[in-house]
Amino acid sequence: MTSVLVTGGSGRLGRVVLEKLVAAGYDVRAASRSRRPGIEGVRWVTADLTTGAGVAEAVSGADVVVHLASAPYKGRYTRQVELGGTAVLLAAAREAGVRHLVYVSIVGVDRVPWGYFRTKARAEQLVRDGGVPWSIVRATQFHEFVAEAFKKMAGLGVMIVDPGVPARPVDVRDLAGHLVGVVARGPIGAVEEYGGPQTLTMEDAARRWLRARGLRRPVLRLRVPGALGRAFRAGHLVTEAAPAGTITWDDYLAGGSVEHPCRQE
Ligand SMILES: NC(=O)c1ccc[n+]([C@@H]2O[C@H](COP(=O)([O-])OP(=O)(O)OC[C@H]3O[C@@H](n4cnc5c(N)ncnc54)[C@H](OP(=O)(O)O)[C@@H]3O)[C@@H](O)[C@H]2O)c1
Repeated sequence: MTSVLVTGGSGRLGRVVLEKLVAAGYDVRAASRSRRPGIEGVRWVTADLTTGAGVAEAVSGADVVVHLASAPYKGRYTRQVELGGTAVLLAAAREAGVRHLVYVSIVGVDRVPWGYFRTKARAEQLVRDGGVPWSIVRATQFHEFVAEAFKKMAGLGVMIVDPGVPARPVDVRDLAGHLVGVVARGPIGAVEEYGGPQTLTMEDAARRWLRARGLRRPVLRLRVPGALGRAFRAGHLVTEAAPAGTITWDDYLAGGSVEHPCRQE
């Protein structure tokens, strides 16, 4: 039976990937810094990518690694996880003879001048040069991530959106299903993109979120300044790649967050 290790198994995407891998009949283990019980059929391994503790044990015996661990917007720690951590993981994977490493990145990392994106682009390069057969899947923003951002803004009392920024958010259930297909397919040594089923403006997404949550907040239209704003408005966060997800933003809003014992919205 093919054995798959998922790093970041307790994250937004990881928890759903674990469930789908188990359902597809894989031998599944998950790594994160703290043990998260609750997913039947998943073996948890405690591993910290920044110190390397537990990483070799987590990888040992795995045929495939789906690398989802990340710590966004935490400055130096972000780079330690994405760069140092990915390098440590690749070394362990080489040593263990892993046949395929799948790295999940973000649509636009090569075109959007943003710190986290630059770090992800550098991590992609580590994967390309890492000596382990690889696939990179760049995804658009997750529905949950967009909803969390809107929730924070609503908490501040006003929704601030650049009306010129298109978005094509994706549902983690769709992306997780796609990743199970990537695991089954094997390494392609190439970057592919995966997005949601429809492009909408961030303003539209915010207004729909407010309606669905029964909230009334003023929507302040503000252009994101500089090169970052230009990249956003140029559509660099969006992909037309096929296949794409089928679950729309409205579907997500109607269904609420993805149920999981590890985390709550
Ligand atoms: N969120 C989005 O909209 C989006 C869009 C496109 C692509 N992506 C990419 O998709 C991947 C998954 O994103 P996500 O939103 O599901 O992530 P997330 O919810 O932020 O989860 C991050 C995971 O990384 C683990 N982690 C953090 N630091 C670690 C460390 N030092 N050692 C080991 N594990 C560590 C966390 O577990 P512990 O805290 O227990 O260690 C957690 O399981 C990331 O690579 C992200 O860049 C995200």
